[in-house]
Amino acid sequence: MQNLKFKYSKFLLNKNYNFNRDYVLKYVPSNLLIDAYKTISKWKSYRRTPLYNLNKLNKDLGLNNIFYKDESKRFYLKSFKALGGAYAVEKISKKKITVSCATAGNHGKSVAWGAKRLKLKCKIFVSQNVSKMRIDEMKKFGAEVIRVKGKYEDSLRKCQTQSKKNNWNIIQDVSTKNYRYIPQLTMAGYSILIREISEQTNQYITHIFLQAGVGGLAAGLVAGVAKYFKRIPKIIIVEPDRADCVLQSIKSKKLKKIKIRNESIMGGMSCNKMSLIPWQILRKATNCCISVSDRNVAEVLASLKDKKYSNTSIIGGECATPGIIALIGMCNDLKTRKLINLNQNSNILVIGCEGNTDLKLYKHLLSKGRK
Ligand SMILES: Cc1ncc(COP(=O)(O)O)c(C=O)c1O
Repeated sequence: MQNLKFKYSKFLLNKNYNFNRDYVLKYVPSNLLIDAYKTISKWKSYRRTPLYNLNKLNKDLGLNNIFYKDESKRFYLKSFKALGGAYAVEKISKKKITVSCATAGNHGKSVAWGAKRLKLKCKIFVSQNVSKMRIDEMKKFGAEVIRVKGKYEDSLRKCQTQSKKNNWNIIQDVSTKNYRYIPQLTMAGYSILIREISEQTNQYITHIFLQAGVGGLAAGLVAGVAKYFKRIPKIIIVEPDRADCVLQSIKSKKLKKIKIRNESIMGGMSCNKMSLIPWQILRKATNCCISVSDRNVAEVLASLKDKKYSNTSIIGGECATPGIIALIGMCNDLKTRKLINLNQNSNILVIGCEGNTDLKLYKHLLSKGRK
C-alpha cells in the first residue's frame, strides 16, 4: 500500500506526564459530563455514531485493532462539534436571549443549530477566510452571519464588542482566565463520544490519537476517558506541523502562542494558541505529541472513501485524517514504535472528527488523493 510510507514531522515525549483522573475531572467536572449525556441523548434523532474497525490498515500495520469513530454521522451536522456548542446553548438558554459566537465554521454551525432548536436568535462572526459554503450552512439554520475583515481573532474581537453592546450571550468554545463555564460545557458535550465508545467495544483501548486545534476536543475526550474508561490508554496529541501549539507548549512547559506562517489545509486545527482549560488538562494527561504535514491528507481522505482501510466506505474530511497519518508514521519509525509500545496487542482509537463539512474542499481533496 503506497501510503504506508508516511513519515511524521515532529515527535515529543511529555516529560511532565502524570495522568490523574481526579485532576482531569477538576477541570471538566463529572456532574457536567453526566448532565451532557443525559441531555444530549434525549435530543430527537440522537443516536451513537459508528465505530468502525480499520481492519485492512490494521493487517498492514500489524496491530490488534484500529477503531475509527465516525463523527460524519453526528446529527446531520457532520462533525463532533454538534455536541458542544448546541449543548452549551441549551444549558444557558432563557426565553428570548440572543446567542453569538465567532467561528472558523464547525463551532458556529453547532451554535446556530442549537439556537434554531430552541427558537433563539443567533449572530455569528466569521473572518474573510471562512468559505461561502460554510457560511451558507450556518445561514440554513437561521443565523445571521457577519463577515469581519482580518483573521479569526478579529472576528472574535468584533463578536465580543457587539455582544456587550447588544446584550447577546456569547457561546465560545475557547476558555480564558475569566471565561470558563461555557467552554467547559462544550467539552462536556464532546465527552459523550467516549461514553459511546465504552459501550461499543469491550476491547481495552491502548492508544488514543487526539487531533488538536485549541485543544477543546482533545481535553473533552480526555475527560471522557477519565470518567468512562476502566484503563487509561496512551494519549497522543496530533497537530498539523504548521500549527503545533500544543507540542510547543508542552515542550516549553508553558502556554505558548506560536506564529502560523501558512495556514494548514486542516482548517479546524490551524490554531496558534491553546485554550486555557485544555492546556491545564493536556499538559499532564498527554503522553506524547506528534505533528504531521498537509502532504498526506488527500491520500488518507481518498483511502477512507475507497475502502482501502476497511470494508466500509468512510467519509472523512481533512481534520479526520491526522490520527491515521500519525499512526502510520509512528509504525514506520521502529524507535518510536517501540518507545510507545505499538505492537500486536495494541488497540488503537482514532477520531474521525468530521465528514465532508466543506463539500467543495472535500471533492478537491478526493480527486487529488486518487491521483
Ligand atoms: C473538524 C474539526 N476537527 C478538529 C478541530 C479541533 O478542535 P479543538 O480546536 O477543540 O482542538 C476542529 C475545531 O474547529 C474542527 O472543526
